[in-house]
Amino acid sequence: MTTIRPRTIGSPLARLDGPAKVTGTAHYAFEHPVQHPVYLHPVQATIAHGRVTGMDTAEAEQLDGVLAVLTVFDAPKLADTSDGELSILQDDRVHFRGQLIGGVIAESLEIARHAADSVRVEYDERPFHTELRADDRGLYAPENILESKPADTEEGDIDAAFVNAAVTVDQTYTTPLEHNNPMEPHASIACWDESSGRPRVTLYDSTQGVHVVRSTLAPIFGLEPDQMRVIAPHVGGGFGAKGAPKAHNVLAILAAQRSGGRPVKLALTRQHMFALVGYRTPTIQRVRLAADPAGALTALSHEVIEQTSAVKEFAEQTALASRMMYATPNRRTTHRLAALDVPVPFWMRAPGLCPGMFATEVAMDELAEACGLDPIELRLRNEPSTDPETGNPWSGRRLADCLCLGADRFGWAGRDPASRRRSDGRWLLGTGVAAATYPASANPGNAARIAYRADGRYTVQIGAADIGTGTWTALTQIAADALACDIDAIELQIGDTDLPVATVAGGSSGISSWGSAIAAAAAAFRQQHGENPSDGAEVTTEAPENADAEKFALHSFGAQFAEVAVDRDTGEIRVPRMLGVFSIGRAINARTLRSQLIGGMTMGLSMALHEESVRDPRFGHVVTQDLASYHISAHADVRDLDAIWLDEADEHANPMGARGAGEIGIVGAAAAIANAVAHATGIRVRDLPITADDLL
Ligand code: MOS
Repeated sequence: MTTIRPRTIGSPLARLDGPAKVTGTAHYAFEHPVQHPVYLHPVQATIAHGRVTGMDTAEAEQLDGVLAVLTVFDAPKLADTSDGELSILQDDRVHFRGQLIGGVIAESLEIARHAADSVRVEYDERPFHTELRADDRGLYAPENILESKPADTEEGDIDAAFVNAAVTVDQTYTTPLEHNNPMEPHASIACWDESSGRPRVTLYDSTQGVHVVRSTLAPIFGLEPDQMRVIAPHVGGGFGAKGAPKAHNVLAILAAQRSGGRPVKLALTRQHMFALVGYRTPTIQRVRLAADPAGALTALSHEVIEQTSAVKEFAEQTALASRMMYATPNRRTTHRLAALDVPVPFWMRAPGLCPGMFATEVAMDELAEACGLDPIELRLRNEPSTDPETGNPWSGRRLADCLCLGADRFGWAGRDPASRRRSDGRWLLGTGVAAATYPASANPGNAARIAYRADGRYTVQIGAADIGTGTWTALTQIAADALACDIDAIELQIGDTDLPVATVAGGSSGISSWGSAIAAAAAAFRQQHGENPSDGAEVTTEAPENADAEKFALHSFGAQFAEVAVDRDTGEIRVPRMLGVFSIGRAINARTLRSQLIGGMTMGLSMALHEESVRDPRFGHVVTQDLASYHISAHADVRDLDAIWLDEADEHANPMGARGAGEIGIVGAAAAIANAVAHATGIRVRDLPITADDLL
């Protein structure tokens, strides 16, 4: 493949969009200036399952400033209702509590919200189930996980291996329901323009991918792609929840058909975030490990139970890492789903691998203890020489280097493996380690346009997303190096479906996918127009498929280290120190990369000790629906936290030599903390989050 010679790639360039953001001139979705807008507030179902039998909108409609009230009985019709999550207000069925069943359009946000509250709804309520249980009678194997992977895998003879094993671990681990909470809740402005006879929709949206929003929503409204434009130059965080359009987008566009041509503004509240935009499924994971006396795995079994929604299937890939992480002749992975009367789960921060590796990396710590081995040594003894899942060679598996460099930097040598040995006053001290992996993928179908202007500058266009991660800066660096020019000579444009097609900022695939398109366009531009292009010279090119992706196993790796202090009387847990060492190919921008990695580790800390959504099984809604009751790590929780990475380039990944780094930071972090807690206290906690009452 074409490779880019790095000049500015790797440097810690400060965010190019930073000044616009801190001076308030960067427009987020809700802030785009539009003419004469109206405001939309949703009406949500207050039952978990049943039918809407009546909606009395009289009081709402009489309020001054109310323009229209949409209900399940009179909303505009959608052209395609095959997606159960998105086809709202098309019939009277309620599939989960909080589902959108109406909306009020008004002259102000406050009037819309007040009016929405005054809509009286009657229901025919049916029995419902919202609790994930290991003994759920309806558990089933999905056809696929992650769209194309089998739900189950089996190699060798698992049962015989356990019968004959010298050492075994057989434990069940659970992770709770968790909700994505980016700083900017989802927001949209929808404009429906019929003035030319043929409808045209403009949607300003807070999304991880403008093109996926259009390709999903346009057919639902019976529109051709050219009839819909989605715009999202700046996005205040996503974490997966903005990786696809959600029902509120549909509500905004339905409302825009009833607003007399005025733009409709919809900002979800923090409470809405707990019902409408996806979440991480809770998991129940049985992990069984068998090993010989030297700690070599003879069997690994990872059986996952998780939930989906009765209205639409989402099957998370929780056991994926268990298929490739360690060498073993006998291996089983399974996924079983319970379809509950709950909202549809979706991506959240390293979906699948993050909760999955919490279970397996704690189990590995338990195996190390059972074998009397150092947990780093145990992992080194189970390194596979090729990818166990595909048989392909690794593009660069340097987990051992991450573990060893981390051990050195963290001060692992001489650690007493026995628990409850170190203390500082009333604080029991312990350290823990965990390994991490995340697939390095680039999505096909990305394109970029490069145009040259007489003033010596290049315009580089691609419909990519910057969800706060640094895309503006990293892609500008890639473009500058691909065109062998200065950063200042690049004007990057992203976040608009009028620009060449780009895939989503998700699955840690963004920079790989978009950067490959920019590299391809730059190579084509230089071939066609040479070193001294003329004014207006322009090229649009699609990134070629990466042939190496079929021949090599492409994964990022990491080693997570944590130190904890546990108050021996109160059980309070503090995390004085965390270190992550990562193998992610070449760093594009050292500053934004470090920010991504320590951000991920902070989320891992948050997962380990704080985050848990509580759904009330009597009513079916999440009661912890604000940031006062849904705890997320704050500054006081984060002390000495650092991330470093190996100096390397992955020549098989993409022209930049970079593997995705957006999600690996969170993977394994919670396990490292759980392992450190076990080391400090002698108490093995297998259910997240770990709280004081677990340790008393
Ligand atoms: Mo990421 S959770 O795949 O957007």
